[in-house]
Amino acid sequence: AQAIVPDFHEWATNTTDCMELGLVSFQETVLFKPVFTYPLFGIPETAFGYKDLAIKIRYAPGSLRAHVSIEFGEQYQPSTSSSSTEAPVVADNISGILKEYMAPDTTTNVDEFVNHVEKDRTEFKPMGEKVHEYQVETEDGEEGDYEIYKCSLKDPRFREYHRRMQFFVLLFIEGSSYIEEDDDKWEFFVLFKREKAGDSTTFDFVGYCSAYPFYCWPDQTRMRISQFLILPPFQNMGHGGNLYETIYKLFVQRNDVVEMTVEDPNESFSDMRDKCDLTYLQDSNAFDGITIPVPSETIDKLQRQYKLTNRQIQCCVEMYLLSNLN
Ligand code: ACO
Repeated sequence: AQAIVPDFHEWATNTTDCMELGLVSFQETVLFKPVFTYPLFGIPETAFGYKDLAIKIRYAPGSLRAHVSIEFGEQYQPSTSSSSTEAPVVADNISGILKEYMAPDTTTNVDEFVNHVEKDRTEFKPMGEKVHEYQVETEDGEEGDYEIYKCSLKDPRFREYHRRMQFFVLLFIEGSSYIEEDDDKWEFFVLFKREKAGDSTTFDFVGYCSAYPFYCWPDQTRMRISQFLILPPFQNMGHGGNLYETIYKLFVQRNDVVEMTVEDPNESFSDMRDKCDLTYLQDSNAFDGITIPVPSETIDKLQRQYKLTNRQIQCCVEMYLLSNLN
């Protein structure tokens, strides 16, 4: 007997198209889309077995407590009449796949989620130590307040928080994967938007960066930025630059740190990093007196002083010299 093979295309949905994320506060819900879903659903980012599939993931904006709703018009039912010995084709288990990657405290209960949104307004406070704050002017001319917190996996509250926020790296950073949670040497820098809401102050998650300290002989450290992310609703507003600059300045000040490197930077990160580094070096008068040809000793000296990689210093010197050509 022949196995009954369903029409794949009729029951297939692109998982990146059908997934929708949202930050839910009492004032508004800000929706945005993932860039990748292959870490969850594989290549070619397809879920089988549903018509009109929609995967809706909503977040309480500070605590990142998540609510998942999987909606569809019809689900594929395997034929019971087939006498084939092959295993029947069944619809993908979407909630099972999400469960593998999302935090264990993700809910499907709306009331529970609404309760978390309410608690975010009154109770949620960032973890760790505040290392920087800054203002950014919004499109409507209003000032927004932002704060950066340094956090560690040694803090059980942050460990839980990290399980929620790490899901974003799969959706927004190509080739990313989860880090080893039991290695508490990781350093995290988490960016929040601070806002007054009546008598209380809210803190909404904006983005984060993880960095790892590598041992550098004989007794120093090479910090490597591993994952760097600003959520889409906050991108292109200067937050990436502010977060990067804050982390860089903290590393430069540390006596143990000899260099800051970046793991697999993509084009948009490299672009932001080049502009930030060039501005910082220019503001520090690092290029004073530099002319072509630049001796390698000058590059080495700048590298030691500014703790960037040799290649990044060369790149900044080149950009500086090119920007000064007539
Ligand atoms: N000095 C000079 N220029 C600056 C500074 C500064 N201090 N700060 C920002 N800028 C510039 C940027 O270079 C850029 O220039 P442009 O307007 O000419 O394009 C512009 O200001 C925008 O920068 P930001 O608004 O700060 O960037 P954003 O907040 O969008 O963050 C990022 C960029 C991190 C790439 C973000 O878009 C993102 O998270 N994308 C998705 C995930 C991702 O790709 N992450 C990086 C992966 S690589 C890794 O993780 C190591």
